[in-house]
This record gives sequence, C-alpha cells and structure tokens, in this order.
Amino acid sequence: MAVLAILTFPDEALRKRCSEVTRFDAELHKMLDDLAQTMQSQEGIGLAANQVGDLRRMFLMDVPLGKDDKTGEELRTGLLEIINPRIASKRGEVRFEEGCLSFPGIYENVIRANEVELHWQNRAGEPMQAKMQGLVAICAQHEFDHLEGITFVERLSPLKRRLAMREYERANREAIGDKQFRAKARQRRQPQQIS
Ligand code: CO
Repeated sequence: MAVLAILTFPDEALRKRCSEVTRFDAELHKMLDDLAQTMQSQEGIGLAANQVGDLRRMFLMDVPLGKDDKTGEELRTGLLEIINPRIASKRGEVRFEEGCLSFPGIYENVIRANEVELHWQNRAGEPMQAKMQGLVAICAQHEFDHLEGITFVERLSPLKRRLAMREYERANREAIGDKQFRAKARQRRQPQQIS
C-alpha cells in the first residue's frame, strides 16, 4: 500500500467528470487500498479517486457516527468503497460546515440533502445500496460531486464562493506562491453549470 499525493485546487483533475469502473481486478483493488491508506494518513472521512488523479468513478468514506449512548465508544461507518455510485433519491435539507482535502485551510457551510439513497458497486462488482442520513449522506454527496468534477465551493452562492476563493488563495499563497497559481484560480472562479 502507498500514501498518494492529494491534488489541490486548481488541479485540472478536480474538474473532470470521471468514467465508469469496468474492470474489478487486482489493479483496482490495489488502487482502493492506496486510496484508503491516503485517506487515513490525512484523517479524512472521504476521498474521491480523482483527488489523487485517478479519473474513475469511485470514492471512499469512513464517517464518524458519534458516541454510543451506553458505552461512550466512538462509532464509525467503517471503510466503505463506493464504485460507480448513483443517487437514487434525496430528501430534506441540512447545512454543514464542510472541508475538503483538495482545499486545505477553508471550511464553508454547504446546504445538501439530509437523506440519500445510494446505489453502488463494491470492489467485487456486486450491487450495493443503502439509505444514508446526516453526515454520512453529506459526505456521500460531497464525494459524488467530485466524480462529476464539482467541488464544494461550487455549491456556494457566487458571493460566498468569491470570498472562499480569496480566503483559499490567502491561506495557500505561500505554499504555492506564484503568479500562475493566481491566474489559474481566477480562471477557475467561473462557476460551473450544475444540473
Ligand atoms: Co472533497
């Protein structure tokens, strides 16, 4: 297993609509293992494959569920490998302060559905489905968006997006720190069509 480099905005891979996984083979399994190690190394709760430059429709989640009432133990979903996902239905609305490993340093309130029914395939290619709620549903929608080439800042109003991008540039100027970065960031600020 390997920890892979996570691509950050304005990397082009984050804008790409990813393509269906068709081969459920050893190469796919190795990539899923590497993605898991990469997500764990960053203490992320979700990671889409295009965030490491792999343009296939798959993401991982391992989401905290809060404490067990009786034992006080921290509960989690455990590692979920979501391949070729489809959101079959959505319900309700929830606002949550999201972050993204591809946008280090910024956190923004995003409104999403509070419940989703997700259909996907596991690493063996078998069909899976689940009703998800709360943080699990939020994370699934954030990661699903990545596979469509949509990042969480594009779920903000135009004004909030501009402010978020300014903050991101400020937070990352020293790390990346060249004119090219600013030029790309300006280009990228054009909102993408969301359907
Ligand atoms: Co993200």
